[in-house]
Amino acid sequence: MVSGRRDETVGGAVPARVPGVAARASANELLAEIDRVGADRARGGYSRHVFTGAEGELREWFRGAARARGLTVEVDRNANLWAWFGAPGADAVVTGSHLDSVPGGGAYDGPLGVVSALAAFDLLRAEGFVPRRPLAIVVFAEEEGGRFGVPCLGSRLLTGTLEPERALALRDGDGTTFAEAARAAGHAPEHFGRDSETLGRIGTFVELHVEQGRGLIHLDAPLAVGSNIIPHGRWRFTFTGQGNHAGTTLMDDRHDPMLPAAQMITAVRESAAAVREARATVGRLVPTPGGTNVIASQVDVWLDARLPEPGNVHELVAEITEKARAAAELEGCAVAVREESYEGTAAFDPELRDRLRAMLGNAPVLPTGAGHDAAVLARFVPTAMLYVRNPTGISHAPEEFAEPADIDHGTAELAHVLRTLAG
Ligand code: GLV
Ligand code: MN
Ligand code: MN
Repeated sequence: MVSGRRDETVGGAVPARVPGVAARASANELLAEIDRVGADRARGGYSRHVFTGAEGELREWFRGAARARGLTVEVDRNANLWAWFGAPGADAVVTGSHLDSVPGGGAYDGPLGVVSALAAFDLLRAEGFVPRRPLAIVVFAEEEGGRFGVPCLGSRLLTGTLEPERALALRDGDGTTFAEAARAAGHAPEHFGRDSETLGRIGTFVELHVEQGRGLIHLDAPLAVGSNIIPHGRWRFTFTGQGNHAGTTLMDDRHDPMLPAAQMITAVRESAAAVREARATVGRLVPTPGGTNVIASQVDVWLDARLPEPGNVHELVAEITEKARAAAELEGCAVAVREESYEGTAAFDPELRDRLRAMLGNAPVLPTGAGHDAAVLARFVPTAMLYVRNPTGISHAPEEFAEPADIDHGTAELAHVLRTLAG
């Protein structure tokens, strides 16, 4: 059975390709085509969550852009989009990234890897390139975990590193399950899960991404090759107490879960600051029911913790957990801790890294604290990453940026890499 569905079988209007005429654009022009999609007027930046209108619009845009270039578009069993330069096949050289975002994110995290892939294909086609290995662009679904909490759902499901039952039961802030949202977006969640046929086609994966830190600013270089991704994960701390009236409940009579939640947040900073190279963040706090005049009955605190080896991120989380338990007890509350996701060190293929480095004129090699689908893929196929300089050093925020000239440079270098690997 063919694992991918050809585009014709998936709903939505895709502009027909004019025979003999293929679209061509630079990565900067392609970014401009989508710069209004998912703009978040309340938060600033972009909110493009999986299976919402904005993300759906971006998927339609991608399919249209790919079809206009004569690429063969498929949707795999796990809602990842594929666009093939020629015939789909085994040992493919695959590039791409994701189109979903964090809440109020920047314009480049994800989309830069997609537009540079399309533009690199344009450069290759313009020079009459005929690949000897199949060549494809992939757009992974729900990389950020911005809607369902767990990141890299598309690549984890594809590789079988996440049980489909668990993914399908994940709920967004409104209580909608991943399965319900996927079905509403036209997918068949009963088919989600390890897809050996699609995975087996990937011979090499190269993801181009905006840099999310300051490495390239310090090195004064426009482009780097990735070395590894540090261990990182997400833990949900659920504090429960007694919901009650803010005006009639005396201070001594309260079991307010917001108190241990607040103490946990300061404990996170204290514990992480004491460990070299550790990063730990509470960026999401969800009180239930969440009323100004209501003592919460429950508070969910989402912890994001990361620590390079030989440090041990689980030890750091265990220390934070102890402090959270003590704080909960003092307030007469309870706390439950659940590991929502964890990814150990992702070491990119050293041979591929060195080849890319040589192709790119001895480009610098950088580790990163940011997670990517490439980390998931690296356990299964030779994988590499390219980072484009971000002059603000800021990411997951509207200030994320890449200079147009650096984007063009990164695109030309990506084309060079694809030409070399697939030629
Ligand atoms: C994704 O960008 C992450 O690092 O969480
Ligand atoms: Mn991101
Ligand atoms: Mn990303």
